[in-house]
Amino acid sequence: MNKIAFYDAKSYDRTWFDRAGPRAGLTLLYLETRLTPDTAVLARGCDAVCAFVNDDLGARTLSVLAENGVRAAALRCAGYNNVDLAAAAANGIRVFRVPAYSPASVAEHAMALLLTLTRRTHRAFTRTRERNFSLEGLVGMNLENKTVGVVGTGKVGLRFAGMAAGFGARVIASDPEPKWGAGIEYTRLDELIRRSDVISLHCPLTPSTYHLLGRSAFHQMRDGVVIVNTSRGALIDSEALLDNVKSGKVGAAGLDVYEEEADVFYEDVSSRVMRDDTLNLLLSQPNVLVTSHQAFLTQEALQAIAETTAENLRKFFAGEASENELHARDPQPV
Ligand code: NAI
Repeated sequence: MNKIAFYDAKSYDRTWFDRAGPRAGLTLLYLETRLTPDTAVLARGCDAVCAFVNDDLGARTLSVLAENGVRAAALRCAGYNNVDLAAAAANGIRVFRVPAYSPASVAEHAMALLLTLTRRTHRAFTRTRERNFSLEGLVGMNLENKTVGVVGTGKVGLRFAGMAAGFGARVIASDPEPKWGAGIEYTRLDELIRRSDVISLHCPLTPSTYHLLGRSAFHQMRDGVVIVNTSRGALIDSEALLDNVKSGKVGAAGLDVYEEEADVFYEDVSSRVMRDDTLNLLLSQPNVLVTSHQAFLTQEALQAIAETTAENLRKFFAGEASENELHARDPQPV
């Protein structure tokens, strides 16, 4: 059995990895701590590490891992902006990821955020628990006949577009690589921003999409526009969003991601003072709904992540090639 140091382990990870790991010939050493240059030494005696989005696989960490005999890093996620691929190659550490696990999970979560906000069910939930059955302030909005703008029509965006069309919405999209034949009307981003009643982001974070929705974009939007972001936090300038929520320009915002999320998401910080005033103020608005980067968190996605990660490692130890291996030449996202 090959031994794997499994960093940042949560109970929901163990459920699926306890099944997939042994089947792939792996013994898993679960560690609750994140992987950092200081915690890398805990992998001593392990053949590989398994890491997640907020683990640090920078040059210092990779060098400590290599000194302690680690030969592979298996990411149990798609993104790899937290890995220095050149340093991994220099230290002889092979890197693998899970490029796709359940686009439906993310698309359905985006739709859940949208419907919650347009039908105010988050507010009804807290009210009726207090035996407040008033309907004041709960007037919603139909999606039927509204224009839904989808930015990025890859695996997730296409599914979300199909769901919105199912509600009778007019779907328009922008993507540098349009999927012709999907029955979607493609437009330029600036036109999408001007025309949409709902804007949902499904494109990757790259230098060119950083703050894609910034002050000038918000200025162009329709009054009362609903914003949904399940992609990456830094696609939106959070301060500009907050100002536009406060002014009423933005009618509602559903955020599964936030640009400074690494400090708080995935952790219980309820007994700490939170210093991020932009997030504090967003959280205090009745028409802003924040979830903690959980769009991927379904049984189906977790099972797929565990099985692909275990298979990536099985192939590595068996000396087989893997299409999920990352190389130093791969584009390094921001
Ligand atoms: P994908 O790679 O299949 O699709 C991305 C699409 O965005 C592609 O069609 C691409 O051409 C397009 N695109 C690239 N640059 C663009 C631009 N400037 N404007 C408009 N479109 C652009 O990716 P997938 O699987 O659909 O995932 C989408 C995003 O969802 C990922 O980038 C990731 O950030 C996010 N995600 C979030 C999760 C969560 O738990 N919240 C989980 C998994 C992914």
